[in-house]
Amino acid sequence: MSHIYLTHALPGKRIAELGQHCDMDCWSGPGLLPADRLRLALAAADGVVCLLTDRIDAALLAAAPRLRFISSVSVGLDHVDLEAATGRGIPVGHTPGVLVDATADTAFALLLAAARRIAEADAFVRGGHWRPETAWSPDFFLGRDLAGATLGLVGLGAIARAVARRAAAFGMRVVAWNRSPRTVPGVEVLPLDDVLAASDFVSVHVALAPQTRGLLDAQRLAQLRPGAVLINTARGGIVDEAALADALISGHLGGAGLDVYEREPLPAESPLLTAPNTVLAPHIGSATALTRRRMADLAAANALAALRGERMPHCANP
Ligand code: DGY
Repeated sequence: MSHIYLTHALPGKRIAELGQHCDMDCWSGPGLLPADRLRLALAAADGVVCLLTDRIDAALLAAAPRLRFISSVSVGLDHVDLEAATGRGIPVGHTPGVLVDATADTAFALLLAAARRIAEADAFVRGGHWRPETAWSPDFFLGRDLAGATLGLVGLGAIARAVARRAAAFGMRVVAWNRSPRTVPGVEVLPLDDVLAASDFVSVHVALAPQTRGLLDAQRLAQLRPGAVLINTARGGIVDEAALADALISGHLGGAGLDVYEREPLPAESPLLTAPNTVLAPHIGSATALTRRRMADLAAANALAALRGERMPHCANP
């Protein structure tokens, strides 16, 4: 019987079903699976169901001679060396589609929170600063209007399009850049420079790959309109984080809403922690019970297909 390793316990019936078709072992903590334990586990595994926190690089694959498939409970696959896996003939599964709405909701929640200074306002009230002399005034906690503002999407995949639908309902104009040509009703597709220059809000929705690492560097951030707000629910490595912190601290940018970072968890010394009007979330884009169950179901379906020697329903190899 095939030996399958799960790097974390997962919800849902399909994972239980997977357990009936193989000999399944699962990391039970404490905490996330450490890299040395992953290496040990993969040395003896025929397949692995992993998370985005499990780095599976070429060296690890070389130490996993039996491995026949990787099924990641994520849409992003920057933690897996896809080229090395493909070279070994190892199919790599992922979970697109099922997390589109949850992630778009998170992007929009961050956008609204940054536009209307919600985190700052919350800290103001809890900090005991809301006193009779500051009760209300015409210029008290002024934020930004969404209606009539322009939202620029960097990438025009399924999550970006779901954000565009939300933005349209809020009366925003939507412009977008995509690496390959794409037409979406209600969205004006422009070159990246034009998207950055035209937008009051910019939301990042490309996958992290060698071509997109550092895409929004200091030069591109400088192209953003004064006071613009940057939202990132994709991957931290797409934005130069030090340059972003500088742009926020200098006042060039009016705010940011971030769910993802170059290093996760965000290091305690990160300048983003004290940057003005910056709303920070701990990579919770897809964190709803239903979405996580659907992601687990899809990861199990990918693993079951690989066990049967069939093509995975969502296989990322070319
Ligand atoms: C993914 O699946 O890649 C997301 O980042 C999880 O929220």
